[in-house]
Amino acid sequence: MDTIWTKLTDKADSVRQRPILSLFEGDSGRFDNFAREADGLLLDYSKTNIDAESLSLLRELAEAAGLPTHRAAMFAGEKINNTEDRAVLHTALRPSPDRAPRVDGQTVTTGVRDSLDRMAAFASGLREGRITAANGEPFTNVVNIGIGGSDLGPAMASRALSPYLGAIRPHFVSNIDGAHIADTLAGLDPARTLVIIASKTFTTIETLTNADTATDWLKQALGADFGQHLAALSSAEALTAAYGIAADRVFGFEDWVGGRYSLWGPVGLSLMIAIGPEHFSDFLAGACAMDDNFLNAGDADNLPLTLALVGLWHNNFCGFGTRAVLPYDQRLGLLPAYLQQLDMESNGKRTRRDGTDVTSMTGPIVWGEPGTNGQHAFYQLLHQGTRVVPVEFLIAAEGHEPGLAHQHAILKANCLAQSEALMVGTQGQEPQPDPARRFPGNRPSVTLAYRRLTPFVLGQLIALYEHRVFVEGVVWGINSFDQFGVELGKKMAKDVQNDPEALSSMSGSTQGLSTFLT
Ligand code: F6P
Repeated sequence: MDTIWTKLTDKADSVRQRPILSLFEGDSGRFDNFAREADGLLLDYSKTNIDAESLSLLRELAEAAGLPTHRAAMFAGEKINNTEDRAVLHTALRPSPDRAPRVDGQTVTTGVRDSLDRMAAFASGLREGRITAANGEPFTNVVNIGIGGSDLGPAMASRALSPYLGAIRPHFVSNIDGAHIADTLAGLDPARTLVIIASKTFTTIETLTNADTATDWLKQALGADFGQHLAALSSAEALTAAYGIAADRVFGFEDWVGGRYSLWGPVGLSLMIAIGPEHFSDFLAGACAMDDNFLNAGDADNLPLTLALVGLWHNNFCGFGTRAVLPYDQRLGLLPAYLQQLDMESNGKRTRRDGTDVTSMTGPIVWGEPGTNGQHAFYQLLHQGTRVVPVEFLIAAEGHEPGLAHQHAILKANCLAQSEALMVGTQGQEPQPDPARRFPGNRPSVTLAYRRLTPFVLGQLIALYEHRVFVEGVVWGINSFDQFGVELGKKMAKDVQNDPEALSSMSGSTQGLSTFLT
């Protein structure tokens, strides 16, 4: 592996000054060779400085890191989360007849199907007014209270799929900041609102505190009937029972579903209620199609592998430390935030699976905003700043608003123009006398294109990113499925709040700020 790494480093050095544009001039088939489609989703990575040789070396790198073995182990249900001794089977939540994962020798597919059936029965009952509020009226709003993986997935997907929403409107509360729940509940009628408490561990302080606030809000309005307005999504069924949530309102899941990978099962209940079980099935089918692509497609047609190799090239060999996710799709506005957890909580690591320190850069900084808004904010830096930021554009051929097709045409033109402008800059144009108006170009991007943002496409996209994170983690030799890096701050927050002695041993800054904020 070291030899391939060295070859890739040398290769990147040797092409650093090469204009990406020159790759098109030397190869009229570059788009065909460096863009691939799977089930209607197109990944174009031709606007990067990757050529056939670097691509082949990158594929060798993944192979040498043991990708085929690690991938098979994940899908089979082996305990690849070694630090927590857990299987990693979010792929089992989008069941396929072709796969039969087992954990500790036990099949998981039947349990997954039963759980989806229970969710669907509950969601349909709510949507069809058979499961009612305490006053016998249908529910009109659902509030999901959760944070991190128990919030970002359903919040992102509900916004992404807003054209598919039914009569029950979804809302999301995550932050411990009372402003979040106060503002959310202020617009809602408790008599028609279902509150879902989503927490895998059912110990997360933000979620339990917000849950108490919401429960009080329900109690004040409904008295003893408040329980009819509560449900829970958790792996910790003893704790949900202790909290007083009726067992038939608890949707459990196994410890082999990581929080940031949990959208596909019970944590997606608010999404399923909002868009309906059929659309939710389409969403799972899209992810399942991407699982098939990842498992079965050859290297050239394998979208997650390819997206990961592009990421590794930019991060580890070109030295670009961040990646911007720029959806030209307003409804994907929460995708960058979702991907921040998926990518940075998974791969922001410095210790290999074998306990040794990594010697290369691992997870890049992921950030972004929808275009065209970003164009009027930070694109200045993307075009003329001193650091190169590889960009990932997302764009649909058509929107959901036929009457606004003219606006979609402008949106598309902007997306295409931005990737072109980033790559070409002012090269080849009349010499620009004013240096401030020169664009260096040679800034790489990939584009993910699809016909329309449907549930199926969203499922494909999210599974694509999940597997990309997996491949990159395998190449770095890290465990992408634990998250110990979030623990220290949580513990210190408790100390600051509850333990004056611990606070008094903290830095002068923290003590001074604490005094100021008293
Ligand atoms: O603090 C990080 C984290 O554990 C995430 O991994 C997780 O998604 C989030 O907190 C919420 O956890 P829970 O679902 O257990 O409340």
